Amino acid sequence: MTDDTDERETICDSAASLVEGCRLPVRMAGGNDWPLAEIVSIKEIRESRFFYVHYIDFNKRLDEWVTEERLDTRKVQFPRRDGPAQGTGVSTPKKLGLGAGMGGGSVPSRPSSPVAAELVNGSAVLAAALHKKMSRKRKGVSLESEAGEARGGAEAAGAEARPESQEALPRSTGSMVAHHDDVVTRMKNVEMIMLGRHRIRPWYFSPYPQMVHLPCIYICEFCLKYRKSLKCLEMHLAKCNLRHPPGNEIYRKGSISFFEIDGRKNKVYAQNLCLLAKLFLDHKTLYYDTDPFLFYVMTDFDARGFHIVGYFSKEKESTEDYNVACILTMPPYQRKGYGKLLIEFSYELSKFEGKTGSPEKPLSDLGLLSYRSYWAHTILDFLICAKPTGDFESPQITINEICEQTSIKKEDVISTLQNLNLINYYKGQYIITLNHELITSHSRAMEKRATRIDPKCLHWTPKDWSKRAKW
Ligand code: ACO
Ligand code: ZN
Repeated sequence: MTDDTDERETICDSAASLVEGCRLPVRMAGGNDWPLAEIVSIKEIRESRFFYVHYIDFNKRLDEWVTEERLDTRKVQFPRRDGPAQGTGVSTPKKLGLGAGMGGGSVPSRPSSPVAAELVNGSAVLAAALHKKMSRKRKGVSLESEAGEARGGAEAAGAEARPESQEALPRSTGSMVAHHDDVVTRMKNVEMIMLGRHRIRPWYFSPYPQMVHLPCIYICEFCLKYRKSLKCLEMHLAKCNLRHPPGNEIYRKGSISFFEIDGRKNKVYAQNLCLLAKLFLDHKTLYYDTDPFLFYVMTDFDARGFHIVGYFSKEKESTEDYNVACILTMPPYQRKGYGKLLIEFSYELSKFEGKTGSPEKPLSDLGLLSYRSYWAHTILDFLICAKPTGDFESPQITINEICEQTSIKKEDVISTLQNLNLINYYKGQYIITLNHELITSHSRAMEKRATRIDPKCLHWTPKDWSKRAKW
């Protein structure tokens, strides 16, 4: 803690004087840890006050509403008059959300990109949409300002648009852009979703139109349309014929399939997928212009149909060599290896394209962990399998060869080798040294990866989108 914050610490007898922006120790759910938290919002229900808190050193998915008993009002830092209390917590290093009180490894977090631009509504929507159509290559139509308010059509028809000031925005990314942390979008707005057999608690804000203050949003697991009640969903299911995502099934092995969905041809599905994904993706703002993207949805098949496990989006054309824009494993399927399977598939597509690729930045904490793990596995596998050539005792491999074989971009190969501490300088040149311990732990990790992508099962030809008049 800095001197600066000490000055502002005050003993405060009751929670009555607490305001938004105050920082104080708060007991985390399910444990007896009291990390420092910031009050994001306060509400009063039947004379009781509830506080929405963000734990400073933790990921936002742990943010929650708490009652007074969970606040330690003996050490309060009041917000400064000249601005909010030291940032919003988004730029501090976060611990992983491993569940209350369990902490976890600290990973570097990114500042959220500044997003300027006021949002307009009403007839301006049409004007902006027209403008977008005319001047589009890389602009989005955003629903961010809806902030969970009841506006727009039930099937995401009521998109709001950013006006000309959009020009100043960072470009859209996988139908989402890095976003500005305003107070509404900082708070979770959906309590629960029902998706197929799963009930899932969302992690972050998502601007589902007309779905405010509901205990649960009911989502059709096949077409991703959403309803306010179970009854409405049942009515939908009686009519909905889909038992798999729209688009082409381009991969199938065992029960795992991948469907390729064009964001222009299947706009409503793509928009609904983005709305669903936003519930678990913090660092992106939802964009409704899905045209420039392809969506690769991974499913698990059983007698009832092809159930969505996760997806990634990919720009049809990426000037920065991104091969993934956004990636998500649905929470019930997480930590079972599906994330790495999605990543493996994205690199398989890059191999078919004859390119190297990299995920779009910034990565989330869990995204970084998964990519680091995938890169390490893939590069180590390649190095361990490499054979010596010619008169040399050990294999002679260049970084470029690793890139060509794995489709992993050069900077990611280098950062992985550095992270694994494999690069040494020896007799005037850089060499990679692998020790037995590493090789053993690598083979153990690979044994755990039971399901792998089989390139023989991929039926796909890359399209050259630059040669097309229109996406
Ligand atoms: N805590 C600690 N480690 C974790 C956690 C967690 N909560 N979740 C995953 N990991 C680790 C796993 O242990 C594994 O590492 P290992 O191979 O060394 O054991 C690695 O991350 C990958 O695990 P998988 O089971 O293959 O991945 P998963 O199916 O859980 O999916 C993903 C990973 C996609 C990042 C998932 O956590 C997710 O959807 N998160 C929410 C959305 C998100 O953050 N997406 C990435 C954004 S960045 C971008 O879009 C480009
Ligand atoms: Zn449906």
